[in-house]
Amino acid sequence: MKDLLRAADLTGDDLTLLLRLAAGFQTAPESAPDLLAHRIVPMYFAKPSTRTRLSTAAAVTRLGGTPVSVGPDELQLRRGETIPDTARVMGSYAAAIVIRTFSDTDVADLAAAAPVPVVNALTDGHHPLQAVADLLTVQEHFGHLRGHRIAYVGDGGNVARSLMEAAAIAGMDVTLATPPGYAPPDEAVAFAAAQADRSGGAVTLTNEPIEAVKNASVVYTDVWVSMGDPDDQREGRVRALAPYRVDERLMGHARDDAVFMHCLPAHRGQEVTAEVIDGERSLVFRQAANRLPATQAVLSALLTERLEGRR
Ligand code: CP
Ligand code: NVA
Repeated sequence: MKDLLRAADLTGDDLTLLLRLAAGFQTAPESAPDLLAHRIVPMYFAKPSTRTRLSTAAAVTRLGGTPVSVGPDELQLRRGETIPDTARVMGSYAAAIVIRTFSDTDVADLAAAAPVPVVNALTDGHHPLQAVADLLTVQEHFGHLRGHRIAYVGDGGNVARSLMEAAAIAGMDVTLATPPGYAPPDEAVAFAAAQADRSGGAVTLTNEPIEAVKNASVVYTDVWVSMGDPDDQREGRVRALAPYRVDERLMGHARDDAVFMHCLPAHRGQEVTAEVIDGERSLVFRQAANRLPATQAVLSALLTERLEGRR
């Protein structure tokens, strides 16, 4: 597999490999110092980013390369140069391209024309790098993934979709509680359910947060309004999602040893209370830290052509 555009592109073996590589980079961060020697990795961000921008920059640097952050105003894309032309040109200088933007079609077009690996650093539809770091965090905390229920409560957007896909491929039991109309797309749910059938996991969708978190080892949420969501949806989203706030009462319905996860940035008092996110059961800063070895693993696996991929 040349690119990582969606969590659904990964096989179970790919995930196992990525988690093993990432665990290796946790203990020996500079164990592959020459993989990107004398190479650059352009990172194109059309949306804000703290974790992804800096963890990717650190990952590239640890692999011996130089990250180059560019925004929409700095490329000729802004003045009408096509995505395929941009991809071909970038590919003649770079070892890989990391991109955060709105449209998944744009990222697919870039990947199709780029002669080097393209990594989706978040689109409106997907956040695969986050999902790899999330599974790494669950594995690090509980020792294994299988047999654990991960309950996602809130908006079924990019983070929820990639988490659901990755967890199902990895054989976890995934439950999602979203308001009606806020679930991930039907084809994503069908894909995850089929993967879970094969991997020994399970995928359950509900509108009831308490039902979702029952027996859960992990309770996960994300913001109610994502970067690609239209402004005129804000009020309706907040109204629909208010009953899905993760608070101590909801955590009380999960397992006694359940942990709380959030991709960050978070809005205390909206999707999660301060008590929960700043409490003892919160893994959010481990998750954020794990973005670095997870991205290092993804880059090193793609650059050494070790991902099998589904397509
Ligand atoms: N979780 C995440 O992707 O954070 P950033 O938007 O800060 O990169
Ligand atoms: N769903 C959020 C995730 C941010 C990391 C967004 O797309 O804005």
